[in-house]
Amino acid sequence: MIKNWNARYSDNIKDFEGYPIGKSLKYLKNPEIISLAGGLPSPDVFQRSGVRIATEKILKEDGNLNKVMQYSAIPGEQGLVNAVLDFLKRDNINIDAKNLLITTSGQLGLDLTGRLFLNKDDIVLVDRPTFAGAIVAFQMERPQIVGVDIQEDGSDVDGFRSKVLELEKEGKKPKFIYVVPDFQNPTGITMSLEKREALLDLSYEFDIPIVEDSPYRDLRYYGETIPAIFSLDQKREGGNVIGLYTFSKLFCPGMRVGFNIGNESVIEKMTAIKEGNILNTPKMNQDICQAFLEEMNYLGHIEKCNIYYRDKLEVFLKTMDETFPPETGVSWTKPDGGLFLWVTLPKHIDTEKLFFEAIKYKVAFVPGWQFYGENPSNNHMRINFSFASKENLIEAVRRLAECIKAQ
Ligand SMILES: Cc1ncc(COP(=O)(O)O)c(C=O)c1O
Repeated sequence: MIKNWNARYSDNIKDFEGYPIGKSLKYLKNPEIISLAGGLPSPDVFQRSGVRIATEKILKEDGNLNKVMQYSAIPGEQGLVNAVLDFLKRDNINIDAKNLLITTSGQLGLDLTGRLFLNKDDIVLVDRPTFAGAIVAFQMERPQIVGVDIQEDGSDVDGFRSKVLELEKEGKKPKFIYVVPDFQNPTGITMSLEKREALLDLSYEFDIPIVEDSPYRDLRYYGETIPAIFSLDQKREGGNVIGLYTFSKLFCPGMRVGFNIGNESVIEKMTAIKEGNILNTPKMNQDICQAFLEEMNYLGHIEKCNIYYRDKLEVFLKTMDETFPPETGVSWTKPDGGLFLWVTLPKHIDTEKLFFEAIKYKVAFVPGWQFYGENPSNNHMRINFSFASKENLIEAVRRLAECIKAQ
């Protein structure tokens, strides 16, 4: 019997521990715990009847059912590809099928990006904090994740520039800059137009690709939509931005369907990697996503989601205002959209320890350290406001306050 499996694991994976958020969910099995931890969209806005109708239609004919049961095209189903190209046009992104790869959701989009670009010790430039799932996806290649503190209006582009110059002196250059410009996970912060342009300036000046991850872009509750960095780049030479998208938050995460867009050669290589791992994304799920875009009034759905989530966000923010006056030293972001906000506690409170205390008070959040690639900051928590009911959001804040007061 082989005794020491650990010694046989690859250098890349030996110390890889997976997704900390996923692991902390195991502590939340007690149904009395109000969880503000996951990134779950609310089933209250799920298009159940639309999915039922679409599914019946897809399965009704033998010919179509045979295709669903068969291997299918790795770059994606033509029908969904066309629907996505149209979906992107309304956001002023005009690309061809050769610039698009259907993925088995956003996390695969990130994995393909990491595998395509990163060697061990390569540098990825990110915001501090940034999406924990991107960090884990990239970590499989053992890069160095270098962060610059995010600001109220998005990435600190001047800070990125200073980092690039600093690295240049050591003969190094980031492989890419990873950002979530709209309602960032975990902070809810949105990058201003000026910063999007400035980031592109940096990308062109130093020849560094930008990876724009956009799962929340359509979930805007206040203010005007700001052009995607991809579309701003198309007004220039184009080709510097890789866009990552998923249907998880807009439609439903159970489908596991998303797409990556970018330069033809990048998409070709990502497709080759997909050929080497999961092959095709299930046709059934792609067909249902196509029906979402073509038959389920997705614009009406977005509007409904935005009204529904705005209401929850307002309840949450009002309760926070009432519960944590300035003298408590607690502060939080006020997002214009998305599913998350970021709470900063007094410096002496370590939110990893607080997480286990909070469970005793039957409330949960994600400890902030998980969103840093290096030198984590320990007094933050990520709060999800989309899943819990309004009543539970209010109760969760009450429980959190009690727990924090006891520290
Ligand atoms: C910024 C960001 N990118 C990618 C993903 C992954 O999306 P998916 O659930 O479709 O894999 C998420 C999910 O929370 C996310 O917040």
